[in-house]
Amino acid sequence: MKKNIGAALGIYPTPVVVVGTYDKNGKPNISTLAWTGICCSEPPSVQVSIRKSRYTHEAILERKVFSVNVPSTQYLVETDYVGIVSGRDVDKFQVTKLTPVRGESLDVPLVGEFPISMECRLTHTVELGSHDLFVGQIISCWIAEEALRNGKTDPKAIDPLTFVPSGGYFGLSDLLANSFNAGKKLMK
Ligand SMILES: Cc1cc2nc3c(=O)[nH]c(=O)nc-3n(C[C@H](O)[C@H](O)[C@H](O)COP(=O)(O)O)c2cc1C
Repeated sequence: MKKNIGAALGIYPTPVVVVGTYDKNGKPNISTLAWTGICCSEPPSVQVSIRKSRYTHEAILERKVFSVNVPSTQYLVETDYVGIVSGRDVDKFQVTKLTPVRGESLDVPLVGEFPISMECRLTHTVELGSHDLFVGQIISCWIAEEALRNGKTDPKAIDPLTFVPSGGYFGLSDLLANSFNAGKKLMK
């Protein structure tokens, strides 16, 4: 039996990303976002949903570009910190000692220490209510060499953080089965 708990957010887990922007003075800033995901394969695109009150929201509308960085679990404290203070008040790169690396394709700061960084160009903005949805076309995707094995990404080396809406971080579990394959058992 299931219980109806009303109009709750029922996706468990969501990814955790850190979005990078330069502000109007050229200061790099990063913020943690959990309302995010891949939203198109061709053109390769990612979506992030951001409240209007965030400094990051202002910077994305101003520059029309942003980076999406995937933190590994070893940067959990830094990731949480950049999700609870604003770049309006503090220099988050300075406090966390993370390294801003200028993108090669777009004018965005990437997080040097994180295993994946994508340079994204804003293609769509949709006002949804509490959050505005920004879609960014991925122009370049950078992956740490240690996270590549025979040209394929190694999820254990990426070691990403995930988030549950009730307010906690989890890591990745072990591989359970291969996708687009496990279901073949039910094919006649
Ligand atoms: C785990 C986590 C997930 C978050 N997800 C979002 C999100 O999806 N959208 C959003 O607008 N804020 C989200 N936040 C809050 C922002 O990261 C936070 O308000 C941050 O201070 C904004 O910084 P800024 O003003 O420098 O942009 C999240 C924070 C945490 C810790």
